[in-house]
This record gives sequence, C-alpha cells and structure tokens, in this order.
Amino acid sequence: MIEVRNLTKRFGPLTAVDDLSLEVGESEVLGLLGPNGAGKTTTVRMLCCLISKTSGEARIAGYDTAKAAEALQIRRLVGFVSDNVGLYEELSAYENLDFYGRLYGCREPQRAQSIRRLLTMLGLWEKRDSAAGTFSKGMKQKLAMARALVHDPRVFFLDEPTANLDPESARTVRDFIVELKHDRRTIVLNTHNLAEAQRICDRIAILNTRLVATGTPEELERSVGRRRLLVRLDDIDRIRDAALAAVRAVLPAAEVSVEGDQLSIAADDPDAATPDVMQAVIRAGARVRSAGVTGASLEDAYLNLVGRGR
Ligand SMILES: Nc1ncnc2c1ncn2[C@@H]1O[C@H](COP(=O)(O)OP(=O)(O)OP(=O)(O)O)[C@@H](O)[C@H]1O
Ligand SMILES: [Mg+2]
Repeated sequence: MIEVRNLTKRFGPLTAVDDLSLEVGESEVLGLLGPNGAGKTTTVRMLCCLISKTSGEARIAGYDTAKAAEALQIRRLVGFVSDNVGLYEELSAYENLDFYGRLYGCREPQRAQSIRRLLTMLGLWEKRDSAAGTFSKGMKQKLAMARALVHDPRVFFLDEPTANLDPESARTVRDFIVELKHDRRTIVLNTHNLAEAQRICDRIAILNTRLVATGTPEELERSVGRRRLLVRLDDIDRIRDAALAAVRAVLPAAEVSVEGDQLSIAADDPDAATPDVMQAVIRAGARVRSAGVTGASLEDAYLNLVGRGR
C-alpha cells in the first residue's frame, strides 16, 4: 500500500530524511520510532503530499506523491492526524467533521453516519454540539482523529496520537486504532511510547534520519543483547564469589554479573544453560530462591539501535 524508495528530504543544509526505503502492506500497522528530530513527521508529511521530497520516490496505492494529478488521489486516500491539531475553534465538534466531510466530497447520508459512528467510538457524541474551542487538549486530539477519518481513508497517518491523552483516553484511541486495522486500513503510527508501539504495531521502523532497523517488535528485541537467565539467591553476599566462579566455569562465554540479589547471566541460549547453571551454583553452596529467563525489551532494542545509528 505504501512504497518508499530512497526517499530524501533536505531543508537547506540540513538532511531531515536520508535515503529511506520501506514498504507498508494493506491492513498493516507500522510504527515509526526515533528520537526528536529523526525525520518521522517529515516522512509522513511527504507521504501525505504536504511537502515535496528532495529525491527518491514515494507511492501510496500505486499513486506517485510527486505527480500533481496523482497527489489529488492520494489526498483522498489518506487521513492524517498531525501533532498540531488545527480545528475550527468556533465550530461545534459536529460542524468541524461535517465541514471536512463536505470538503472531501463525502455525501449524505454517509457523511452523517460516519460522523455519528466516529464521535460515538471516541466518546464525543454527547459533546457534538459544543464548540471545539471549548474542548480540552485530549478531546481536541480525538476530534482531530475523527476529522481525519470522515472521508473513510484507506491509509491513516497518526503523528503521536496519544501524546496528550490521559491513560483512559489513550486506551480508547489505541483500541480505536486496532479496530481501524481490522477494517483493512493501513496505518502509520509515529510514537515515542514504546509500550504503545509494541501493543499496536505489526512492524516497527526505527528512523534516525536514516532507517536504522525494521522488524516486528519481537525481531527487534531479539536483534539486540542476548537473553538472560536470572537466578535469585539466598544471602547472595555470602556466596557471590563462589557462585560467579561456578557459573563462569560452566559458561565461559556468558556475561555474568550480580544485580541486587540475583545472578544475571547473558548467554546465547539461556534456556539450554539453565540446568547446568543450577547444578553449578547449588554445588557452590548457594540456595536458589527462583530462576527465570528474560528477553531484551523493546526499549533495550530501541536504545541500542538508536545509539548504534549515530
Ligand atoms: N519546515 C522545516 N524547515 C526546516 N527544517 C525543518 C522543517 N521541518 C522539519 N525540519 C527539521 O527536520 C528535522 C526532522 O524533523 P521532524 O519534525 O521530521 O522530526 P521528528 O522525528 O518528527 O521529531 P519529533 O519526535 O520531535 O516529533 C529536524 O531537524 C527539524 O528541525
Ligand atoms: Mg514529529
């Protein structure tokens, strides 16, 4: 649905997006992650035909973002919720949506049905006749989402949609995004919230001017750091040196350290190593309280990949 090839954007001497290539399939949710200034918003604005590219190519549903006639088609196909909301403050919630619906040539009765469905889903139906200017930040954010969906776009770009929301509203918006996905829509989500990305996204692209990595959340987690076996011991101060020596003897290649009351053992296959490690530490005189294998988190992966991308 979205194809990006060697896409580059320069603002004068500054390269905001450098040689980006990626694809997003139909009903796929792609999370675009990266530090402040990484080029996420710039990328999305190019894909929505709001700014021009410097070089490379970007297509949505086969339409070329660089051709004026095709850009019109793209505008019809995409919905974009930006980080600056841009509503008509003096119009009511309903009127805001109605105005955009008309602008996109969306006819009655579909327009009214679509507005009612969206406002209801986002918990704003009761507020439909209140002026948008009287809404809180989070309510405006939700209204902006509804507005971007009035014309029933197939591709939906969300730039930090939950950044201003309270936990409950953030949950509403996340559930809403998942519902859109099941509705066979393609979604690109810019976010700094890694738990959100992990929960919603099928695939994640980490951008730091250049593309640093892509993969499912699990693939990214596996790509960094080894998984670890954590062994919690009784009275670890007494046994620390003997236990460390015992683990190193059976797993010479592992990184072993003590964290609080546990031994932390980073090995290629910690599951396979567990029986030997247990035997070794028990022989060394330790009493094991609990043991378990943990993976690297998406946060570990992100920090590692972004650090490496510099
Ligand atoms: N219109 C513009 N003119 C000049 N520079 C710009 C313009 N828009 C963006 N930039 C620069 O391009 C770079 C990428 O900005 P962009 O907004 O895409 O980052 P981002 O990844 O969305 O960051 P954030 O996480 O803070 O939203 C930044 O260095 C920014 O200053
Ligand atoms: Mg941004």
